[in-house]
Amino acid sequence: MNPIRVAPSVIAADFGYLRADVARAEQGGADMLHVDIMDGHFVPNITFGPAIVQTIQSLTKLPLDVHLMISRPRKFITAFVEAGAANLTFHVECEDDIRTAIDEIISSNRSVGLSVKPRTPLSAVRDYLGAIDRLLIMTVEPGFGGQKFMPDMMAKVEQAVTWRREGGFKYDIEVDGGLNSHTIWPAVRAGAEVIVAGTSVFSHADLGQAIQDLRDNAQAALADLDAPAPEETSG
Ligand code: DX5
Ligand code: ZN
Repeated sequence: MNPIRVAPSVIAADFGYLRADVARAEQGGADMLHVDIMDGHFVPNITFGPAIVQTIQSLTKLPLDVHLMISRPRKFITAFVEAGAANLTFHVECEDDIRTAIDEIISSNRSVGLSVKPRTPLSAVRDYLGAIDRLLIMTVEPGFGGQKFMPDMMAKVEQAVTWRREGGFKYDIEVDGGLNSHTIWPAVRAGAEVIVAGTSVFSHADLGQAIQDLRDNAQAALADLDAPAPEETSG
């Protein structure tokens, strides 16, 4: 049984206070940091590259969960490995050969994740499930933080649980986008184990409390599967 892990998404940090926000996340009990890399081509936004990942890595002992929203991930595997990524996740919708990219990440001694956008059927990743460490199911259209969680994606999470059991696979199931102490209920009930949370964590004055709220709600959601999720509150 995989415990719930919380991965604050650095995209929602205050970049003017990156050192302080990374420290807040580490001291607040994060299990890893999620780092979104966008190239302005695969998604309609640009974030940052290996130099910033290396900076983040120098500021924390937490493993970096690097999410490559880029069209050609293979070009940058070495750069992000050298920058200190612990895990490299790329998209099945990218333009590179998927199997080759997976093999290159494995050869670099990093864990490998594969991600699916909301409109991509989960069947797109099926052939690779035996080779990956992590399956990232997007719960928003990738490109921006602060979007609304898409509950329809929970069918994919449930399917991923079933395929893992049937195939004897080992991947963790990660969800990314719009996660907060309310939406974590359907997510963990469907079977998600790695919870990426940007806005809900970094916008909270007490980041440790935000992470604890996520853990408490995950536990409550799993403890009584008939209990209704609490009403969503703003902030
Ligand atoms: C979306 C990114 C996510 C997202 C998380 O493209 O991959 O990591 O920004 O941020 P919130 O939690 O604000 O949706
Ligand atoms: Zn992400």
